Order: sequence, then C-alpha cells, then structure tokens
Amino acid sequence: MKKKISLIGAGQIGGTLAHLIALKELADVVLFDVAEGIAKGKALDIAQSSGVSGSKINLIGTNNYKDIKNSDVIIITAGVPRKPGMTRDDLLGINLKIIKEVAEGIKNNSPNSFVICITNPLDVIVMALQKYSGLPHNMVVGMAGILDSSRFKYFLSKQLDIPVNKINSLVLGGHGDTMVPMLEQTEIDGVSLSKFLKDGKIDKKKLEEIVDRTRKGGAEIVKFLQKGSAFYAPAASGVEMAESYLKDQKKQLPCAVYLQGEYGVKNLYAGVPVIIGASGVEKIIELKLSDEEKKSFHQSIKAVEDLFSAAKKIDTNLN
Ligand code: APR
Repeated sequence: MKKKISLIGAGQIGGTLAHLIALKELADVVLFDVAEGIAKGKALDIAQSSGVSGSKINLIGTNNYKDIKNSDVIIITAGVPRKPGMTRDDLLGINLKIIKEVAEGIKNNSPNSFVICITNPLDVIVMALQKYSGLPHNMVVGMAGILDSSRFKYFLSKQLDIPVNKINSLVLGGHGDTMVPMLEQTEIDGVSLSKFLKDGKIDKKKLEEIVDRTRKGGAEIVKFLQKGSAFYAPAASGVEMAESYLKDQKKQLPCAVYLQGEYGVKNLYAGVPVIIGASGVEKIIELKLSDEEKKSFHQSIKAVEDLFSAAKKIDTNLN
C-alpha cells in the first residue's frame, strides 16, 4: 500500500523535502502551511515535474489539518528560520508557540504517525512537541545529528581529499554551538582519526578548525544567504530518517531522542545514535565515550537543559 508523508511547513526545507520524497517515490505527500498558497503552489510545481521524473506519487497542498489524517510520517519545519547574527536559541519564543499549534493538529488528526521535527532550537522544540502532543517518545524524534555529522564528514573529506562515503563519524549532544563531533569514534577508510593525527596526515589545529566550522556550519550558511537558513542538507537528512522508518531499514542514525538514563541523562531530548525502524526509535545505542568526549557531551546537555528551563518560563504548561 502507498505510504503517506505530511510536511508541516512548506517553506525552504518543506519544499525540498517534498521534492526529494517525490524523486525517491517514498510516499504520497501532503504539504501543509498556514500560508495556503505556498503549500498549494509548491505541490503543483513539484507535481508538474513528474512528466520529466516519471514519479508516480501524489502531492497536495493545504492549510487544513484534516488532510494529514492517517499519515505514516509527519515532518515538521513550521517556524521561523534564523537571520544573520541570530543563534538558534533566539527562535525559542516564536517557534514554541507555533509548535504548540502543530502538536494540537497532529494529536487531533494523525496521532499514530512517526513524527520528525526539524524546527529550531531543535532539542527543546522536539521536547515541547512531545509534551504538547502526548505522542509516545519513540514516535517523536528530532533531526540534527545526521546533518551535523554530514557537515563534519564533508569538511574532513575536503581536507583529507578522501571520498566522503569512506568517512565514518557522528556528532552528538544538542544541536547548537556546543554540539560534539566524536573524534575518537571517527574512522577514515577503516583507520582511526587518532592514527591520522599520529601519522601527521592532519594536524591538531586544522582538526580544531574543522570542529569549529562544523559547530558553526548553519551560521556560515545563514550569513551567505542573508535571507533564511540551510535547507538542502537538512531536508536530505530528514528524508533519511523517514526512509529508515517506512522501509524498516533499522539504520543507526544520530537523532535527538528522549533519554531516560542513557548516557547519564534523564527526561531530556538530545542527540545520540539510535536505530530507526518500523517501531520508530527501536533502540538507543550507548557508545563508550572517552573522558574528553563525556565532558563535552555533558556541557552540551547542560546547554539544552538551560534552554528548556527558559522554555518552561515562557510556557508553564511545559513543567
Ligand atoms: N503552521 C504551519 N506552518 C507555519 C506556521 C504554523 N503555525 N508558522 C509558520 N509556518 C510556515 C511558514 O509559512 C513557512 O512557509 O513555516 C514555513 C517555514 O519555512 P521557511 O521560513 O522557509 O523556513 P525553513 O528554512 O524551511 O526552516 C524552518 O527549520 O531548520 C529549521 O531553523 C529552521 O526553525 C526553522 C525551520
């Protein structure tokens, strides 16, 4: 049977998600946006490319939540993106209000879906989304780690002149300036990054620059674009999560999930490696972190906790 993906938010990421889903023929697509014309226009534009691509999926645009009924997957990008000079955290107040409305829409119309949140500030917004919607924790996840890891792998690949698909790495923690590229977990063509360092194939300073550029990867693009933030790489990352769920691929992917003691963190969403399959988040993988990685990870967790405290001050219902 054909699957259905609803995209809440038909802006830059929403439109790119719809196009990628159509090209992959992953599912029929409902593009939802408060700005009805944007959703309808993008759905029609992508649908009209099917004569070229041969894609057989159906697309519709809407501003009516009833149309998302019985979605297999829902991907949320509703909200406001950053402007130059802003941090993701600056979006908290406005996006929190939007996510409350979106959570109601999902709860009332498609409560059995696998829900992927992309709206920033990611970890806190996905936590609020789960609380507002009341959906099970294993069915509500945040997209950030795949994107951050992909940025890190790309920068390493350019520096080392090695194809990006030969680089294995992951970025954990919160999706902000404290995110943690896992250097000790990084392998290049089967060889550890520490061996690369030891052999002088990359120096420590260069590596620190790459880590820093990864952390600021989103801001670098915001500065170039001036209007809006990154959308191609975030959309590609969201689609990988949706596909692993729909096809029960059980891929191991870094995602923001609800931690209940794993990595020493309780009752908080943050980025860790998980298995995504037909039951949603099927397993949380607990990697053995080095002391330095542990320290950075917990610093990042602290930043997420602080921002969630700020969210609770904005809306006491989150307590
Ligand atoms: N319900 C549905 N859609 C909404 C709502 C709402 N309450 N409020 C705003 N939107 C829509 C806007 O009309 C817009 O079309 O969300 C869309 C957001 O699209 P863009 O402004 O193009 O932003 P985008 O680049 O797609 O990023 C969206 O994802 O990565 C994060 O930081 C980014 O929080 C931002 C989000």
